[in-house]
This record gives sequence, C-alpha cells and structure tokens, in this order.
Amino acid sequence: MDKSRAFAAPKAVLFDAYGTLFDVYSVGLLAEQLFPGQGQAISLLWRDKQIEYTRLVTMSRGAPYQPFWALTQAALRYTCQKLGLSLSPEAESQLMNQYRHLSAFPENHGVLQALKSRGVVTGILSNGDPEMLGIAVRSAGLDELLDHVISVDSVQQYKTSPQAYALGEAATGLKAEQIGFVSCNSWDALGATWFGYQTLWVNRQGLPFETLGTQPYRTGTSLRDVLSLFA
Ligand code: LAC
Repeated sequence: MDKSRAFAAPKAVLFDAYGTLFDVYSVGLLAEQLFPGQGQAISLLWRDKQIEYTRLVTMSRGAPYQPFWALTQAALRYTCQKLGLSLSPEAESQLMNQYRHLSAFPENHGVLQALKSRGVVTGILSNGDPEMLGIAVRSAGLDELLDHVISVDSVQQYKTSPQAYALGEAATGLKAEQIGFVSCNSWDALGATWFGYQTLWVNRQGLPFETLGTQPYRTGTSLRDVLSLFA
C-alpha cells in the first residue's frame, strides 16, 4: 500500500458506481446468450467505448452533452458494429435493461454498514445519470445506506473533470482531503488522487495501476479494504 501522504481518517467516503459497486461485466452473461462466443468481447469493448465517449464529450468544445445512459447505448451500438454483430432492437433493449440492473458486488452492504456504524458519511459519486443510479441503488437495496447519490449530470462534465470531482466536496461540505474516494477503475482512482481525495483503488482483477507516476493513497482487492483508510 502506498503511504506517501498522511491523511487523517476521512469523515466521508464516496464510491464510484459502475465497476465499483455494480459489476459492469455482469452483462457478459446475457451478451453470451445473445451472441454465443462473443459475450466477453462485447462486455469489454462496450465498457471501454462507453468511457471513451464520456471523455470525448467532456473534452471537446461544441460536443453536445449526452447523459451516461445515451452514451452507454451508443457504445453498445458501436461495439456490435465493430464486432460485426447485428444488434436487433429486441437484443438492444434486453442488454440495456440488463445494464439498468447490474449485479451488485456482495460485500457492498457490509462495508456501507460498517462505515455508517462509525458515523462516516457515505455516498456515490458517479458518471451515471440520476435515473440509472436511482434504479441501480434501489435494486441493490443500498438506498438506506447511502447519504448522497451524486451524479455528474448536474454539471454535465464527466470524470475526470475537476468539476465532476468537486461535486463530492459540495455535497458533503468537506474538503477533498477529508473524503475517502473508492474506485475499481484505475483511471478514476488516479483522477481522484490528482484532485486531492484520499483514494482507495480496489484492484479486483489483478491489473497494473496507471503508469503515470502517481499512485493511489491505498490499494486493496475488495471494498472491505476501505476500512484501511481508518487504520
Ligand atoms: C462511474 C463510472 C465511471 O460510475 O464507473 O462513474
């Protein structure tokens, strides 16, 4: 674990949603049923394209903002075209519906409960639009355990824009260094580290971290490692 900076224990912990609380690759099972032999390729390319599109619309002058749901749908269409698959309207609606109800990682509840019992403020800070996040949070039964569900939609800037990360400070009334930020996405953990959050990168897949010279404050392998921010 990287301990290059010393922070006091955070007063709030914010979680990324997609890939961190909700398993974006769980759509691979349905994709495999619809397109045998292609499920994994679809889920990987779909995710990469979705994130690429967030950056494209945030960084480009003149680009119309589109909510995360629309970018997710556009990314699915691109993915099928790239893989040479014919996406029927029925298959598209099945896959998009699955995206609304992604599996939640099993340790979510226990971790959020542990934070609440310490009196720590909890929340989500996500690229997802409010409707998507609301459905995902309710279907995972997490609504009682989250004080804030923050969507970048209110500023129409996707992470890693500073305006997106600043929403966490505005919602909690705390400074970034007083807030833990948990993400399984290494690029998000890096952006949040640069912004000044006490980051935990949850490396579920045994991947290398981004090689740009900055390390997350902490690294773990499950959301339970969020408790290391209080050690
Ligand atoms: C989110 C995406 C980045 O929830 O996973 O913000």
